[in-house]
Amino acid sequence: MRSLLITIDGPAGAGKTTVSRSLAKKLGYRYIDTGALYRGIAFEAKAKGLRYDNDVGLENLCMSLNLKLIFAEEGSRLFSNNKDITDQIRSPEISMLASAVSSRPVVRKYLLGLQRNMGAGKGVIFEGRDMGTVVFPGADMKFFLDASLRTRALRRYKELSAKASLTIEEIEQDINQRDKNDTTRSLAPLKPAEDAIIVDSTDLSADEVVEFMLSHISRC
Ligand code: DC
Repeated sequence: MRSLLITIDGPAGAGKTTVSRSLAKKLGYRYIDTGALYRGIAFEAKAKGLRYDNDVGLENLCMSLNLKLIFAEEGSRLFSNNKDITDQIRSPEISMLASAVSSRPVVRKYLLGLQRNMGAGKGVIFEGRDMGTVVFPGADMKFFLDASLRTRALRRYKELSAKASLTIEEIEQDINQRDKNDTTRSLAPLKPAEDAIIVDSTDLSADEVVEFMLSHISRC
């Protein structure tokens, strides 16, 4: 089978990372979690005390940043200026700030170039919000992974419960707010590409989603 560039877009908590990681392992591909890059910028903006809408500050920040996503099968690691910030970018506060900075054109422009460079070789899965619509409109195979709001909140709750003291209702509110931000922004809003295969994972396990995707990929 030829080497492909595959995109998986979808809202928060739909299972994109779990599915991308498993699919990448089965195919012997790399996978790139582009949300981590937005989270990295949010983390550094917070460290510098920058508001999400300080475009000049964000532009200067992007120019001085050296973000590296190091691929590892068990989960990629994000380095900012050679410092491993993987664990620090997963907090609910950084999730919301990442969604806010992702609406700023200076941030999207900076990451567009970075992401396209990362996809130079094929045999790669990109997961995010605008992979199939904006960053790689010519991708070989595009998926849009969705699930009901309640299911996504429950999945996040299970992931976070050891680390954060949020209730399911609070997580659901956060996800709902991020969905609104991500789908209504004017630049690269979250939506399925016209040629994306839409997968509703509400009643599917991650393995079932992966099998479904593999059945499409094998025909490509
Ligand atoms: O996938 P995630 O939850 O880690 O992403 C965090 C935020 O980053 C998300 O709310 C919106 C933004 N994002 C984006 O705008 N475009 C992407 N390709 C990936 C993430």
